[in-house]
Amino acid sequence: MKNEKAKIITITSVKGGTGKTETILNIAGLLSQRNLKTIIVDLDLHSGVIAPILNVKADADFYDLANDISNNHFNQIEDYIVKYNDNIDILASPKDPRMAYKIDPKYITVALGRLNYKYDVILIDTNHIIDGVNLITFDSSDEIIYLITNDLMDFRNMKNMINIYEDMERTNYKIVLNESINQGGFSDFDIRTILNHKIDYTLPKSFHLHGIQKYVENGEIPSLDKSLSKEKGIEVLNHLIDDFLK
Ligand SMILES: Nc1ncnc2c1ncn2[C@@H]1O[C@H](COP(=O)(O)OP(=O)(O)OP(=O)(O)O)[C@@H](O)[C@H]1O
Ligand SMILES: [Mg+2]
Repeated sequence: MKNEKAKIITITSVKGGTGKTETILNIAGLLSQRNLKTIIVDLDLHSGVIAPILNVKADADFYDLANDISNNHFNQIEDYIVKYNDNIDILASPKDPRMAYKIDPKYITVALGRLNYKYDVILIDTNHIIDGVNLITFDSSDEIIYLITNDLMDFRNMKNMINIYEDMERTNYKIVLNESINQGGFSDFDIRTILNHKIDYTLPKSFHLHGIQKYVENGEIPSLDKSLSKEKGIEVLNHLIDDFLK
């Protein structure tokens, strides 16, 4: 057992399809290269894809975990975890998405408590909806990454979210602009003016991966592909990891 608590990093957004899942996989890949024990907890409970995207078969998922705890059938957290490689484990979202709404969000705190001293980093994938699941997840996180694209709707929703964080006097979030999947025309100056807030990191246009389907077909994580190691996008993610682990 480790002595130190895991760092909990959650990735979310203010609209769907901004590259959250792909980014969490890339961060997990880079953490595993640093030999840091990492678990990806897929809390996109209605449409999580972490296990299928990595070609991993999860015998048990978050629904089973929550259900077993509530029925006093829970034995050990390892029973719900599946291994991807030596450093990356997965706690999968429900295979049957109809089960998602049956999960009481309080079991998120219980699950994270069980994982805390077993990993260096807990990475949580979410959806963009502000519901009980995400609110508890955010409250349990050390850092929250908002992944936005170069899109006016993203900026307007993000501005609203920034105001909420200011009202709550919370600052444990970072804004990452993902230019690899949506190359809208707003300049850094435009974005800063709309948000009245800085962009903390930018995944550049050059990080658009034309062969992304190949990685999915093979269950591979792009950041573990040596041919991408010189990519600026990888450098940015490594920088983000350095800052978060400080
Ligand atoms: N760097 C990239 N290069 C090319 N395509 C990408 C890249 N990152 C993500 N994509 C593609 O963009 C789409 C959205 O990415 P992803 O599923 O990671 O977003 P998401 O925010 O997790 O979506 P959702 O809100 O539905 O969970 C996917 O089809 C994915 O394959
Ligand atoms: Mg996703």
